[in-house]
Amino acid sequence: MSRPRVFSGIQPTADSFHLGNYLGAVRQWVGMQDDHDAFYCVVDLHAITVGHDPALLRERSLRSVAQLLAAGLDPDRCTLFVQSHVAEHTQLAWILGCLTGFGEASRMTQFKDKTQRQGTEGATVGLFTYPVLMAADILLYQTDQVPVGEDQRQHLELSRDLAQRFNSRYGDTFRIPEAYILKETAKIYDLQDPTAKMSKSASTPGGIIELLDDPKVSAKRIRSAVTDSGREIRFDHDQKPGVSNLLTILSALTEQSVPALEEHYVGGRGYGDLKRDVADAVVEFVTPFRERTLALLEDPESLDNILARGAERARAVAAETLREAEDRLGF
Ligand code: ADP
Ligand code: NA
Repeated sequence: MSRPRVFSGIQPTADSFHLGNYLGAVRQWVGMQDDHDAFYCVVDLHAITVGHDPALLRERSLRSVAQLLAAGLDPDRCTLFVQSHVAEHTQLAWILGCLTGFGEASRMTQFKDKTQRQGTEGATVGLFTYPVLMAADILLYQTDQVPVGEDQRQHLELSRDLAQRFNSRYGDTFRIPEAYILKETAKIYDLQDPTAKMSKSASTPGGIIELLDDPKVSAKRIRSAVTDSGREIRFDHDQKPGVSNLLTILSALTEQSVPALEEHYVGGRGYGDLKRDVADAVVEFVTPFRERTLALLEDPESLDNILARGAERARAVAAETLREAEDRLGF
């Protein structure tokens, strides 16, 4: 039995990953390298669906790659590449776009959410067809499993529908991808508003832990995290979202279970102790992570070499899939 093929992508839209990106996605990527045939992609084509600065995009793509390597991705054990280096992504996206109903695309809730405030007038067609490009990303690699959070589930469903539609109209070409469900405990919330997820776009300034920030800043943010007027250290997302978020972070970083942590804090130890422990765990993680990332960024040529090899490996698979699809379509 060959290992299941997995595909996942991350957008180069920030200077630094935040703790939610790491605990909710990147760490799982690292863990899947050995028992999966993993394709990991910095999705820069997705990043231009909203206005962008070209120099910044290039810089952020490199920073993303450096952080992925610093987190533990090994280019000998996975295929790590940048989306725009493999032209087949846009080529297949066009084909799949011609199989997608306008109404079907209009029902994608993420586009609706993103245009809710400003309206659709200023939005790009690229933002609208983003899920079609995502389907191409996944289907090009004959992907078995896609690690997805709740926010991407509908997009994966579209990928499955498009694969099935193509296969039934033109003949078996694409593998139907399955969701690889990530644990709910991997979801990290804003430190100042622990009912909202930690997010580069939506978080309050003090609510986010950016991995490349000065660790002292991160420690201070943890110590200033919102909790509640009670005293009990107990996991209850509805009643105690702030404390629950801190327990989630501590559990994820120290590999102790939440019940074991609750037990640990019973009797005498208060919110101040919890925050200090979380701050220590965060500093212990981000300090070497940041050093490794900065060291990798000192040598952009090596990063480019890694990416060139990754793109070559990815292209070999992508080109074969595209050729088959084009054959079926009569090109
Ligand atoms: P953001 O939500 O900050 O814009 P992205 O959409 O680029 O971040 O997310 C990249 C990856 O990180 C996705 O797999 C996403 O599910 C995951 N992720 C983002 N925010 C969180 C969070 N707060 N908790 C857990 N995972 C998250
Ligand atoms: Na997101």
